[in-house]
Amino acid sequence: MSKNIAGFSKRSKEEKINWLASEFFSDPEEAIAVLKSYWNADGVLQKLHDEFIENTISNFYLPLGIAPNFIINGKNYTLPMAIEESSVVAAASKSAKFWAERGGFKATVLSTEKIGQVHFLYSGPKEQLEDFFSQIKPQLIADTESITHNMQKRGGGITGIELHDKTEAIENYYQLHATFETVDSMGANFINSCLEQFSNTLKHEAENFSGFDKNNQPEVVMSILSNYVPNCVVRAEVSCPVDDLTEGTINGEEFAQKFITAVRIAEAEPYRAVTHNKGIMNGVDALVVATGNDFRAIEAGVHAYAAKDGKYTSLSHAKIENGIFTFWLDVPLALGTVGGLTTLHPLVKFCLQLLGSPSAEELMQVVAVAGLAQNFAALRSLTTTGIQKGHMKMHLMNILNQLSATDNEKQLAFKHFEKVTVSHAAAVEFITRLRQNDPSTIEKDFIR
Ligand code: MEV
Repeated sequence: MSKNIAGFSKRSKEEKINWLASEFFSDPEEAIAVLKSYWNADGVLQKLHDEFIENTISNFYLPLGIAPNFIINGKNYTLPMAIEESSVVAAASKSAKFWAERGGFKATVLSTEKIGQVHFLYSGPKEQLEDFFSQIKPQLIADTESITHNMQKRGGGITGIELHDKTEAIENYYQLHATFETVDSMGANFINSCLEQFSNTLKHEAENFSGFDKNNQPEVVMSILSNYVPNCVVRAEVSCPVDDLTEGTINGEEFAQKFITAVRIAEAEPYRAVTHNKGIMNGVDALVVATGNDFRAIEAGVHAYAAKDGKYTSLSHAKIENGIFTFWLDVPLALGTVGGLTTLHPLVKFCLQLLGSPSAEELMQVVAVAGLAQNFAALRSLTTTGIQKGHMKMHLMNILNQLSATDNEKQLAFKHFEKVTVSHAAAVEFITRLRQNDPSTIEKDFIR
């Protein structure tokens, strides 16, 4: 069966859908109905979504949840979280409440530098290239004037350009390595436009530079920003006296020691570090998506940062000093609160307003805190009750939905699993018995 198609992008939305439905689905009508059930009735909104990308056939929803009561640097935030995973929002809310009662979160932006590079090959003498670079450096900046003008008015712009010799890595390989301040925008378009102008200036000036002969002109390979931003870092932290960690049956001192050991394991052991950091990214990504930022850029940059010393390790750290427990996280976050989707996507606009229309630096702080909160909640569960208890409780609704449980069946199941450990098998058994009218499924204080 051939599934190739020529000129797909030229077809109408209806034609695209009809082709997909007939080629890939045994029940084309049902497939079309699924796609259409996600179309937005408001034609204007649907058109907006259709035009974000190419070949759109429907919308792909993520739940938007809310984690209230985050105290960050003394200010109260209500966090919007776009995420599909059960228990992430509940964990964030729990962590927020726990730390609100112990002084809240602190967050500090350590640096905001962005990076971009023009990669090129050059086979002539290095001294001539250095000479050339120092001569054209003012021109490189001057030629970007029309691009940098507005950014400079907002307090940003190009903060440096250096010539980097990378010939040890690849023969004849050099870079123009540029640094930028992009204020409240993530800055990808701004940086890439500057880099492409650098590349044009480099080519043009090289043709007129007497030090190069025709055979050893610099040859540009590509110009692109880097999503590795080790100098665009925010720190989030919490601290309190060890005794204040005591809660219910959990002893503060024992908990703190075990917690610190768990963090040390993530620092020492890459298999654990990846999962530990994944838990941090549960919080980070949910906020990054909700605020219309580029989660792929954030993910790539964060994991590169976690491996910056040559070995993949934990992004968070913990210690006890003079009876004070401190838990902190350093994370690189190149975020924007202007440009991109921020004013275009109505829900992104909503989420940014919910956060009080933050600057990019304030958003960096909030996002890092969401990551730390999530990491705290995960480690707290892992080192005390185990993760499955809370997770499966939150996942119960998904299992019940898979079983097409009615509202009444769900109510009965939730009541039943208050006292019983949730598992997929246990939920299936409960619903099966319920449907067979097994009296043992009926709680005495619950009326069916
Ligand atoms: C699950 O999404 C995240 C955790 O695995 C994180 C962790 O293990 O620290 C619970």
